[in-house]
Amino acid sequence: MTRQPTSQKTHLFTESVIREMTRLALAHGAVNLSQGFPDFAAPDLIKNAACEAIRADVNQYAVTWGAKPLRDAIAADVTRRHGLPIDPDTQVTVCCGATEAMIATLLGIIDPGDEIVVFEPFYENYRPDSILSGATPKFVRLHPPRDARGDWWFDPDDLARAFSNRTRAVIINTPNNPTGKVFTRDELTLIASHCQQWGAIAVTDEIYEHIVYDDHVHVPMMTIDGMADRTVTINSTSKTFSVTGWRVGWAVAPPDIATGIRKVHDFLTVGAAAPLQAAAAAALNAGDGYYPHLRETYQSRRDRLLGILERRGFAPFTPRGAYYVMADIAPLWFDDDMAFAQYLVTDVGVACVPGSSFFRDRSSAKNIVRFCFCKKEETLAAADERLARLERGVGLQAAGRGRQA
Ligand SMILES: Cc1ncc(COP(=O)(O)O)c(C=O)c1O
Repeated sequence: MTRQPTSQKTHLFTESVIREMTRLALAHGAVNLSQGFPDFAAPDLIKNAACEAIRADVNQYAVTWGAKPLRDAIAADVTRRHGLPIDPDTQVTVCCGATEAMIATLLGIIDPGDEIVVFEPFYENYRPDSILSGATPKFVRLHPPRDARGDWWFDPDDLARAFSNRTRAVIINTPNNPTGKVFTRDELTLIASHCQQWGAIAVTDEIYEHIVYDDHVHVPMMTIDGMADRTVTINSTSKTFSVTGWRVGWAVAPPDIATGIRKVHDFLTVGAAAPLQAAAAAALNAGDGYYPHLRETYQSRRDRLLGILERRGFAPFTPRGAYYVMADIAPLWFDDDMAFAQYLVTDVGVACVPGSSFFRDRSSAKNIVRFCFCKKEETLAAADERLARLERGVGLQAAGRGRQA
């Protein structure tokens, strides 16, 4: 039998649908509300610090697990805001984005036969990450809010059933992409009790920690009783400082877990870009004055997009954090998220992400799509204008779908 040119693992997952939607948006000149990257400027402070570092010839490899000033800044930031002591020399690993921090963590803690608990819908990367690290994912379903004021929720019995003596870790993402859920202290305490019962590690992706709305509060898993020594917290400059292309993220872990993460990280990438690490340190050291502004501007962008989607006939779910809106397309008479996303990008000129790409079984969410709102007012206004074409039924006849078909 002829061998396949690529490994069996690579046949178990597809390329990212999110990043494919960005390529389609570019090809069709569509307004891109698919991939979560800001189209506005990053703060001057971080840009100036990067320029200064380059001018100062910070050009060579940083220490593998992160330049000392950045590790110090990360540890000080966690201690200042969450009151927990962090040793920058043994607990912090700077990686090429949260993306690398997650895969380095899983490769650093998973052995054959291990299972990991993953909430579904999930950020697209977690499934390939589990497959690549050799873990078997056990999914716990997040259900849509029961009413307009509610949040996505899970059944405590489903959670209990997902844990066993094979569970090595649970991946939590709060504030959550794609749902906008912000896990409450009670929910995290329940998850923590299972981690403690089964000896599992909580791997928590908190890259939207500063982006929460209304009176909702982000609770870091490491602050839950008994969790500081069994939590890996992943974070990044990407979303907080609007620099998704810089690729500077990190994992904060107890020293015995950090040694595994550091080894994997060293051989995966050696290190993140040195001058950008210097800039990240400057941004973190600047203190907390920036975060309320970030939060307020995102809150008005969120409200703006919710208004647009409602007006254009969608039934959106209000996110409590992060910068995405999940929207039901059933009121528009569509029942296939993939076909709808294709139609929207080609005929209407707006790119979104089919909701089913956040589920293991694509038939699970065929009536939902995800839009992001980390965009300038002009971009959101352009999307609004184009979405008006939905009302006129542009292209629907050709697509053979929707209320006009
Ligand atoms: C939940 C989540 N984690 C990680 C990432 C990627 O982060 P980074 O750019 O730091 O690799 C994203 C990007 O959209 C995300 O939504």
